[in-house]
Formats: sequence, structure tokens, C-alpha cells
Amino acid sequence: MGEYLKLAVLISGRGSNLQALIGAAATAAFPAEIVRVISNVSGAGGLERAAAAGISTAVVPHRDYPDRESFESSLSEEILGSGAELVVLAGFMRLLTATFVEEWRDRLINIHPSLLPAFKGLHTHERVLEAGVRYTGCTVHYVRPEMDEGPVIVQAAVPVLPGDDADTLAARVLEQEHVIYPLAVRLIAENRVRVKAERALIDDAGLGAPVATINPAP
Ligand code: GRF
Repeated sequence: MGEYLKLAVLISGRGSNLQALIGAAATAAFPAEIVRVISNVSGAGGLERAAAAGISTAVVPHRDYPDRESFESSLSEEILGSGAELVVLAGFMRLLTATFVEEWRDRLINIHPSLLPAFKGLHTHERVLEAGVRYTGCTVHYVRPEMDEGPVIVQAAVPVLPGDDADTLAARVLEQEHVIYPLAVRLIAENRVRVKAERALIDDAGLGAPVATINPAP
């Protein structure tokens, strides 16, 4: 590992989490750099964000491949070719096979807009509102073959407020996603995260764990 941990960021859409990582990486103290942004969708907004930041981009359109295996082998080639050491899923909307996930085991992370293991899958905010829970949030976790499973690295909680709809709730959660994704990457890049018995253990160097927050504080 060099001075900076090398990241490949995988996207499918607008790339606001990518933007948060680009912003973090632009600060001198941040111990990671984005070496390639890869999208499975050619028009993804995040590709423009990457280009604007001078980051190399690649498009691997899943529709051009007959099956998941061939798609993923192109994906792996792009990642390996970039020299990335950590693969960061940031709104990447393809399910990955167990083969790919195992190839990148503990070097593959994802962000999900709920407090996992609650509300896995799509339409999270609608389901949170339907369930009537008082808090939701977001989770950065290591990826495992089962969807939205894997050791939790960082979580932030936000309140569900009276009058919320899926959009207002999504915006409140997204603000915290942009805080915790760079934080999780920083902890990994500083070698402060290790997985033991399927738990992500954080060495907080005695500073107090920044890995769980409630926003705003009660
Ligand atoms: C985020 O809500 C993330 O949690 C989910 O997909 C969305 C991606 O948004 N996995 P963006 O493309 O980063 O703006």
C-alpha cells in the first residue's frame, strides 16, 4: 500500500456520494485517492463529476454482456488495471455475484440509506415511512454475497419527522451519507478497521468512536 489508499468508485447514477469522496480526497490530510470511477450506465451524472475532478473514468455497460460473469470480469479488469486497493460502491445498482464479492472480500464496501439490517433493498424511505419508525439513517458496510449484508463500519441515525415524505427523508439521510462515507474510507485507509468474526472492529486510538452518530443530537 502506498501513501494514499487507492480507491475505485463504482456508480450508476448522479454520484453525490462520489462527490463527497472527491471533496474529502481534495484535502491534503485525507489518506485515500480515487484512481478510477467506473459506471455501468453511460450517461451517469457521476461520470461528469469525476471528469471535472480530473479522475479517470470507465463505462462497463452491463447490457453489452450476455451474463453477470462476463460483465463482472470486465469490471474486475478495470478495477485491477487502475491499481485500486479498495472498491467503493456508491449508488452502484447491479447485484454482484458471490464470485466477485469473494474476490474483493473485505476490500469492497457499500453505502445503504437505512440503519441496516433494517430496510434492506430498494424504496427504503417509503418503507421506513410506512413502518412508522422514529429513526432511520445510513450504513457503510463491507459487502457480502447477500444483498445489503456484511459487517457494519459506520452508521448515522436521523429522526423521521412529522410531515416527512420520501424526498425530505431521503435528503436528510443523504446529508449524513456524505459525512459517513468519507469517514469510513478514512478509517480503512488509516488501517483502523479489521474484520473479526464478521464484525468490523474499529481502532479509535482512544479518541472515542466516531462510528455511530445521531443527527441532530437528541
Ligand atoms: C444513495 O442513497 C446510496 O445510499 C444508495 O444509492 C444512492 C446513491 O446516490 N446506495 P448518489 O448517486 O451517491 O447521489
